[in-house]
Amino acid sequence: MADPNTHEEAPLGWPGQLWLEGRTLVHLQQEQERPSHMPRGPAKRTGVGFLNPAMAPARTRSVLLLADALEHGWLVKPGRPIRALDALCATGVRIRRWRNEIPSDLQHRLRITGNDLDEFALSWAKTSHHCHPPKRDIVHEPEDDRHGQPSDAVFTNGLHFQRLDARMAMVDAAYQWVDLDPFGSPIQFLDAALQSLSRTGVLEVTATDTAALTGSSPSSQARRYQAKGLVDEYAHDDAVRLLLGTVATTAA
Ligand SMILES: C[S@@+](CC[C@H](N)C(=O)[O-])C[C@H]1O[C@@H](n2cnc3c(N)ncnc32)[C@H](O)[C@@H]1O
Repeated sequence: MADPNTHEEAPLGWPGQLWLEGRTLVHLQQEQERPSHMPRGPAKRTGVGFLNPAMAPARTRSVLLLADALEHGWLVKPGRPIRALDALCATGVRIRRWRNEIPSDLQHRLRITGNDLDEFALSWAKTSHHCHPPKRDIVHEPEDDRHGQPSDAVFTNGLHFQRLDARMAMVDAAYQWVDLDPFGSPIQFLDAALQSLSRTGVLEVTATDTAALTGSSPSSQARRYQAKGLVDEYAHDDAVRLLLGTVATTAA
């Protein structure tokens, strides 16, 4: 398998069209419609390498929260590094935003890994990072992995890319910060994500299987979440509670 950290050649369709998310330049695929000021998610199933502009506010919150954790030492002692994994990073927009937008005096404490199984999406991510690197060079000291062996992670301009099944990636290494943003339900990744988290850590979870979570698809809801919801005006509120409850019971 090609080393996902060596920038080889641009993926098919590069450079697409330029877009600014937060303070980070991203490349949308040419065929993707340009987002409006209040973008909506895709109406139909999208292909690999699609960047969902409707998720931009969620990524912005992730940037702000991680900066706060670093600044106020609520995950690790002040001065210690935080290892962060975007387990399903697709075109790498979130990890690039972490690297570009978190204040520069905190950057040296971040060890960021982006993982995805899809070669095309990873290539798009690496090419974006190569063409728009962070303003300051970030050099990491080598460190040991969770088994006490020297880690072979290679960080290029402050990001380490890998191409693994997300569950393997999470079982393989420990992180203080894990982001899970799958297509549809996160349920199949939850257990591995919780195993991967340090004793004190943050798990960011996105779920877009709204029909299952609200109960408008009762069989999916029962199968995935062992629940039976009432589809009334509180259905979306219930859906968030059901997701949080599922994470809590999986963790317990
Ligand atoms: C919704 S997208 C992620 C979007 C991304 N977080 C963002 O903010 O743009 C889901 C990604 O999961 C990847 N994926 C699906 N199953 C996977 C698996 N088992 N292991 C690793 N990646 C996987 C897909 O290739 C796809 O890029």
